Amino acid sequence: MASEKTFVMFKPDCLERGLVGRILTRFEEKGLRLVAMKMLRITPAVAKQHYAEHVEKPFYPGLEEFITASPVVACVFEGPEVIRVVRDMLGATSGLKATAGTIRGDYSSSKQMNLVHASDSSESAEREIGIYFEPSEIQAWDPTLACWYQAPGEA
Ligand code: CMP
Repeated sequence: MASEKTFVMFKPDCLERGLVGRILTRFEEKGLRLVAMKMLRITPAVAKQHYAEHVEKPFYPGLEEFITASPVVACVFEGPEVIRVVRDMLGATSGLKATAGTIRGDYSSSKQMNLVHASDSSESAEREIGIYFEPSEIQAWDPTLACWYQAPGEA
């Protein structure tokens, strides 16, 4: 199984509620490999670039106001099937619909304030990683304990 990368962003509600550490721990405990991380404030221009497919939707003005309101933490995780694995861990877009046990199901009661964004396809992942990170900011590394998370040939 080829390893892939996904873009994950802890949104302003996650920082304001002090949930970054708790949710990051879930990804780490799952065994996902963190390869890049930075804190930044999203500008309206970057919001329009990131959410290009939603700019014409009725909820976009509120989404832009929300996503630019406080800092975010942007990350890249790497691993086999990591795009799907992270989306499964997040649950449905709306915290009201997300299954209990998923991140949104456990911590969110909102469609907009759903705590964490994650890429939904390899094309989105490549595009979104490119918005927030230079290639030189992404670390290629092999954690010492990786051999205790996946058998040889799985990663
Ligand atoms: P995200 O996974 O980052 O992708 C698009 C975001 O738009 C989504 O999470 C929510 O934060 C927001 N969003 C999606 N649908 C709605 C909606 N109907 N009303 C308000 N915000 C929404």
